[in-house]
Amino acid sequence: MAISFTLNEREVAAEFPPNRLLIDLLRDHFKLKGTKRSCDMEVCGACTVLLNGQPVSSCTTLAADADQGSIVTIEGLSPEAGLSRIQQAFVDHGAAQCGFCTPGFIVAVTDLLSRNPSPSDDEIRHHLRGNLCRCTGYVKILEAVKSLVPPGREGVKAQVKA
Ligand code: FES
Ligand code: FES
Repeated sequence: MAISFTLNEREVAAEFPPNRLLIDLLRDHFKLKGTKRSCDMEVCGACTVLLNGQPVSSCTTLAADADQGSIVTIEGLSPEAGLSRIQQAFVDHGAAQCGFCTPGFIVAVTDLLSRNPSPSDDEIRHHLRGNLCRCTGYVKILEAVKSLVPPGREGVKAQVKA
């Protein structure tokens, strides 16, 4: 099947079997290896990408679902030089740890902060519940995300909603 879509702000096209998965299209066809394959069962979040602005597990999403849409991978979140502020926060707080789950976390945190720039601790934990880190734990990851919340603004949105 012919698939065309926007990949990290670039128009792309590919011939790809409609029953193959989005993670295969990204990793095997487009050689974007930042999206990680781990559980293959929509449990760990390592393969998270943005499809039409929504986080999805690329290991359970068909490649065909990208047709005429927009995909952003971890590669699309890095500026041409250097790191994004979220990536830098992970480095500064030692949150990359072994690093395997980090791309999925960065995509999920990008999604969270784009919707809610001032999340509370609970909102951060809730939003990242679909991303598993199996090596060291979550303390550093939470510290990195919390460092991105403007001082005094933690959970402002949640309080306004309550
Ligand atoms: S590899 Fe897709 S959720 Fe784990
Ligand atoms: S940093 Fe190693 S699994 Fe998360």
